[in-house]
Amino acid sequence: MSDEVTRRGFIGAASVAAGGIVLAGTDPARAAESNNKSKIIAISCSRREGMSTAGALQIALEAAKAVSPDAIDTELIELAGKNLHAEVAAKIELAEGEVDDFLPIAEKLGDPNVAGIIIGTPVYFASMSSPCKDFIERLGVFRSQDYALSNVVAGVLAVGGGRDGGQEVAITSVQATLFCQEMIVVGAGRKTSRFGACIWAGAEGGVEEATNRAAAGDLGRRVAEVALALH
Ligand SMILES: Cc1cc2nc3c(=O)[nH]c(=O)nc-3n(C[C@H](O)[C@H](O)[C@H](O)COP(=O)(O)O)c2cc1C
Repeated sequence: MSDEVTRRGFIGAASVAAGGIVLAGTDPARAAESNNKSKIIAISCSRREGMSTAGALQIALEAAKAVSPDAIDTELIELAGKNLHAEVAAKIELAEGEVDDFLPIAEKLGDPNVAGIIIGTPVYFASMSSPCKDFIERLGVFRSQDYALSNVVAGVLAVGGGRDGGQEVAITSVQATLFCQEMIVVGAGRKTSRFGACIWAGAEGGVEEATNRAAAGDLGRRVAEVALALH
Protein backbone atom coordinates (compact mmCIF):
# COMPACT_ATOMS: atom_id res chain seq x y z
CA MET A 1 0.00 0.00 0.00
CA SER A 2 1.44 3.40 -0.91
CA ASP A 3 -0.40 6.72 -0.88
CA GLU A 4 0.26 10.43 -0.58
CA VAL A 5 -0.32 12.89 2.21
CA THR A 6 0.77 16.53 2.28
CA ARG A 7 1.69 18.83 5.16
CA ARG A 8 2.95 22.38 5.69
CA GLY A 9 6.63 22.67 6.36
CA PHE A 10 7.37 19.22 5.11
CA ILE A 11 9.19 19.45 1.83
CA GLY A 12 10.62 16.88 -0.43
CA ALA A 13 10.22 13.67 1.50
CA ALA A 14 9.73 10.66 -0.67
CA SER A 15 10.52 7.64 1.43
CA VAL A 16 7.94 5.09 2.39
CA ALA A 17 7.22 5.56 6.09
CA ALA A 18 6.28 2.99 8.66
CA GLY A 19 2.68 2.41 7.78
CA GLY A 20 3.30 2.56 4.08
CA ILE A 21 2.13 6.13 3.54
CA VAL A 22 4.33 8.55 1.64
CA LEU A 23 4.22 12.14 2.83
CA ALA A 24 5.07 13.86 -0.40
CA GLY A 25 5.64 17.47 0.67
CA THR A 26 3.69 20.67 0.25
CA ASP A 27 1.30 20.57 -2.67
CA PRO A 28 1.19 24.09 -4.20
CA ALA A 29 -2.22 23.48 -5.80
CA ARG A 30 -3.78 22.60 -2.46
CA ALA A 31 -2.03 25.45 -0.70
CA ALA A 32 -3.46 27.89 -3.28
CA GLU A 33 -6.97 26.55 -2.62
CA SER A 34 -6.57 27.00 1.10
CA ASN A 35 -8.54 29.77 2.82
CA ASN A 36 -5.67 30.28 5.27
CA LYS A 37 -7.88 29.92 8.32
CA SER A 38 -6.30 27.94 11.13
CA LYS A 39 -7.99 24.58 11.39
CA ILE A 40 -8.71 22.71 14.59
CA ILE A 41 -9.64 19.06 14.17
CA ALA A 42 -11.19 16.94 16.90
CA ILE A 43 -10.87 13.15 16.78
CA SER A 44 -13.49 11.13 18.61
CA CYS A 45 -11.98 7.79 19.59
CA SER A 46 -15.27 6.28 20.73
CA ARG A 47 -16.59 3.11 19.12
CA ARG A 48 -20.07 4.70 19.39
CA GLU A 49 -20.88 7.33 16.80
CA GLY A 50 -22.44 10.56 18.04
CA MET A 51 -22.27 9.61 21.71
CA SER A 52 -20.67 11.24 24.74
CA THR A 53 -17.15 11.64 23.41
CA ALA A 54 -18.35 13.19 20.16
CA GLY A 55 -20.73 15.44 22.11
CA ALA A 56 -18.00 16.69 24.42
CA LEU A 57 -15.70 17.34 21.47
CA GLN A 58 -18.43 19.36 19.75
CA ILE A 59 -18.57 21.59 22.81
CA ALA A 60 -14.78 21.96 22.75
CA LEU A 61 -14.87 22.85 19.05
CA GLU A 62 -17.62 25.44 19.56
CA ALA A 63 -15.46 27.10 22.21
CA ALA A 64 -12.41 26.94 19.94
CA LYS A 65 -14.31 28.55 17.07
CA ALA A 66 -15.65 31.28 19.34
CA VAL A 67 -12.10 32.42 20.13
CA SER A 68 -11.88 33.92 16.64
CA PRO A 69 -14.70 32.87 14.28
CA ASP A 70 -13.12 34.57 11.25
CA ALA A 71 -9.73 32.93 11.79
CA ILE A 72 -10.66 29.40 12.83
CA ASP A 73 -12.31 26.46 11.07
CA THR A 74 -13.21 23.31 12.97
CA GLU A 75 -14.02 19.72 12.07
CA LEU A 76 -15.01 16.65 14.06
CA ILE A 77 -13.80 13.26 12.82
CA GLU A 78 -15.30 10.17 14.40
CA LEU A 79 -13.37 6.89 14.36
CA ALA A 80 -16.51 4.84 15.08
CA GLY A 81 -16.90 2.13 12.47
CA LYS A 82 -13.57 2.89 10.82
CA ASN A 83 -10.77 0.40 10.18
CA LEU A 84 -7.45 1.87 11.28
CA HIS A 85 -5.42 -1.35 11.06
CA ALA A 86 -2.75 -0.75 13.71
CA GLU A 87 -0.72 -3.62 12.26
CA VAL A 88 0.21 -1.33 9.37
CA ALA A 89 2.20 0.76 11.84
CA ALA A 90 4.29 -2.35 12.47
CA LYS A 91 4.91 -2.61 8.72
CA ILE A 92 2.54 -5.52 8.20
CA GLU A 93 0.97 -5.20 4.78
CA LEU A 94 -2.80 -5.29 4.46
CA ALA A 95 -4.31 -8.26 2.72
CA GLU A 96 -5.62 -7.73 -0.80
CA GLY A 97 -8.95 -5.91 -0.69
CA GLU A 98 -8.70 -4.82 2.96
CA VAL A 99 -9.96 -1.26 3.42
CA ASP A 100 -7.82 1.14 5.44
CA ASP A 101 -9.70 4.21 6.69
CA PHE A 102 -6.62 5.95 8.09
CA LEU A 103 -5.48 7.54 4.84
CA PRO A 104 -8.32 10.08 4.45
CA ILE A 105 -7.88 11.01 8.11
CA ALA A 106 -4.12 11.43 7.63
CA GLU A 107 -4.78 13.63 4.61
CA LYS A 108 -6.97 15.90 6.72
CA LEU A 109 -4.39 16.06 9.50
CA GLY A 110 -1.75 16.80 6.88
CA ASP A 111 -3.60 19.90 5.71
CA PRO A 112 -1.16 22.81 6.00
CA ASN A 113 -3.76 24.83 7.89
CA VAL A 114 -4.16 22.35 10.74
CA ALA A 115 -2.96 24.23 13.82
CA GLY A 116 -4.61 22.21 16.56
CA ILE A 117 -5.86 18.69 17.24
CA ILE A 118 -8.14 17.71 20.10
CA ILE A 119 -8.24 14.00 20.86
CA GLY A 120 -11.24 12.69 22.77
CA THR A 121 -11.27 9.20 24.18
CA PRO A 122 -13.75 7.26 26.28
CA VAL A 123 -12.18 5.87 29.44
CA TYR A 124 -11.86 2.12 29.02
CA PHE A 125 -10.56 0.50 32.20
CA ALA A 126 -8.74 3.64 33.29
CA SER A 127 -6.99 4.08 29.96
CA MET A 128 -7.65 5.20 26.41
CA SER A 129 -9.95 3.20 24.12
CA SER A 130 -8.48 0.72 21.67
CA PRO A 131 -9.48 2.85 18.64
CA CYS A 132 -7.56 5.71 20.29
CA LYS A 133 -4.45 3.55 20.63
CA ASP A 134 -4.78 2.33 17.04
CA PHE A 135 -5.07 5.94 15.87
CA ILE A 136 -2.01 7.02 17.87
CA GLU A 137 0.05 4.15 16.50
CA ARG A 138 -0.92 5.10 12.96
CA LEU A 139 0.16 8.70 13.69
CA GLY A 140 3.70 7.29 13.69
CA VAL A 141 3.76 7.99 9.96
CA PHE A 142 3.93 11.71 10.71
CA ARG A 143 6.79 11.24 13.18
CA SER A 144 8.80 9.18 10.77
CA GLN A 145 8.37 11.85 8.11
CA ASP A 146 10.42 14.58 9.77
CA TYR A 147 7.95 15.12 12.62
CA ALA A 148 5.27 16.47 10.33
CA LEU A 149 2.97 17.25 13.28
CA SER A 150 5.68 19.24 15.03
CA ASN A 151 4.32 22.38 16.73
CA VAL A 152 0.69 21.46 16.09
CA VAL A 153 -1.16 22.20 19.33
CA ALA A 154 -2.75 19.20 21.03
CA GLY A 155 -5.41 18.94 23.72
CA VAL A 156 -6.98 15.81 25.20
CA LEU A 157 -10.40 15.06 26.62
CA ALA A 158 -11.57 11.86 28.31
CA VAL A 159 -15.13 10.71 28.97
CA GLY A 160 -15.87 8.21 31.71
CA GLY A 161 -19.04 6.58 32.95
CA GLY A 162 -17.81 7.27 36.48
CA ARG A 163 -17.12 10.68 38.00
CA ASP A 164 -13.68 9.46 39.08
CA GLY A 165 -13.38 6.78 36.45
CA GLY A 166 -9.77 7.32 35.42
CA GLN A 167 -10.19 10.33 33.13
CA GLU A 168 -6.92 11.97 34.18
CA VAL A 169 -5.00 8.73 33.75
CA ALA A 170 -6.44 8.30 30.26
CA ILE A 171 -5.68 11.92 29.38
CA THR A 172 -2.06 11.77 30.50
CA SER A 173 -1.47 8.48 28.70
CA VAL A 174 -2.65 10.07 25.44
CA GLN A 175 -0.63 13.23 26.10
CA ALA A 176 2.56 11.19 26.62
CA THR A 177 2.27 9.80 23.10
CA LEU A 178 1.90 13.29 21.62
CA PHE A 179 5.24 14.42 23.04
CA CYS A 180 6.70 11.75 20.74
CA GLN A 181 5.39 13.84 17.82
CA GLU A 182 6.88 17.17 18.99
CA MET A 183 3.33 18.46 19.33
CA ILE A 184 2.62 21.35 21.69
CA VAL A 185 0.56 19.62 24.36
CA VAL A 186 -1.70 21.92 26.36
CA GLY A 187 -4.12 21.30 29.19
CA ALA A 188 -7.52 22.85 29.73
CA GLY A 189 -7.23 26.60 30.22
CA ARG A 190 -8.78 28.69 32.94
CA LYS A 191 -10.88 28.22 34.94
CA THR A 192 -10.49 24.45 34.78
CA SER A 193 -6.69 24.71 34.40
CA ARG A 194 -5.97 21.01 34.62
CA PHE A 195 -4.48 18.24 32.48
CA GLY A 196 -7.31 18.25 29.97
CA ALA A 197 -11.08 18.00 30.04
CA CYS A 198 -12.41 15.32 32.39
CA ILE A 199 -15.97 14.52 31.34
CA TRP A 200 -18.44 12.50 33.39
CA ALA A 201 -20.96 11.00 30.99
CA GLY A 202 -23.01 9.79 33.93
CA ALA A 203 -23.71 13.29 35.21
CA GLU A 204 -27.26 14.52 35.10
CA GLY A 205 -27.59 16.12 31.67
CA GLY A 206 -24.69 14.07 30.30
CA VAL A 207 -21.98 15.99 28.50
CA GLU A 208 -24.25 19.05 28.43
CA GLU A 209 -24.07 19.31 32.23
CA ALA A 210 -22.49 22.62 33.31
CA THR A 211 -19.25 21.21 34.74
CA ASN A 212 -18.68 19.10 31.64
CA ARG A 213 -19.45 22.02 29.32
CA ALA A 214 -17.03 24.22 31.22
CA ALA A 215 -14.21 21.65 31.10
CA ALA A 216 -14.67 20.91 27.38
CA GLY A 217 -14.92 24.63 26.60
CA ASP A 218 -11.80 25.47 28.60
CA LEU A 219 -9.89 22.85 26.62
CA GLY A 220 -11.15 23.97 23.22
CA ARG A 221 -10.48 27.62 24.00
CA ARG A 222 -6.94 26.91 25.20
CA VAL A 223 -6.10 24.86 22.10
CA ALA A 224 -7.42 27.66 19.87
CA GLU A 225 -5.63 30.44 21.74
CA VAL A 226 -2.25 28.71 21.63
CA ALA A 227 -2.81 27.63 18.01
CA LEU A 228 -3.50 31.21 16.94
CA ALA A 229 -0.49 32.46 18.88
CA LEU A 230 1.82 29.96 17.17
CA HIS A 231 0.50 29.70 13.62
C1 LIG B 1 -14.70 -1.72 27.93
C2 LIG B 1 -15.19 -0.55 28.71
C3 LIG B 1 -14.46 -0.14 29.82
C4 LIG B 1 -14.88 0.97 30.53
N1 LIG B 1 -14.10 1.39 31.60
C5 LIG B 1 -14.43 2.52 32.25
C6 LIG B 1 -13.61 3.02 33.30
O1 LIG B 1 -12.58 2.47 33.65
N2 LIG B 1 -13.98 4.17 33.91
C7 LIG B 1 -15.14 4.84 33.57
O2 LIG B 1 -15.42 5.89 34.15
N3 LIG B 1 -15.94 4.39 32.56
C8 LIG B 1 -15.61 3.26 31.90
N4 LIG B 1 -16.39 2.82 30.85
C9 LIG B 1 -17.57 3.60 30.47
C10 LIG B 1 -17.27 4.56 29.30
O3 LIG B 1 -16.11 5.32 29.53
C11 LIG B 1 -18.43 5.51 29.10
O4 LIG B 1 -19.58 4.75 28.77
C12 LIG B 1 -18.21 6.54 27.99
O5 LIG B 1 -19.29 7.40 27.98
C13 LIG B 1 -18.10 5.96 26.63
O6 LIG B 1 -17.99 7.00 25.67
P1 LIG B 1 -19.03 7.12 24.45
O7 LIG B 1 -20.34 7.51 25.04
O8 LIG B 1 -18.46 8.18 23.55
O9 LIG B 1 -19.07 5.79 23.80
C14 LIG B 1 -16.03 1.69 30.15
C15 LIG B 1 -16.76 1.25 29.04
C16 LIG B 1 -16.35 0.16 28.34
C17 LIG B 1 -17.12 -0.27 27.12
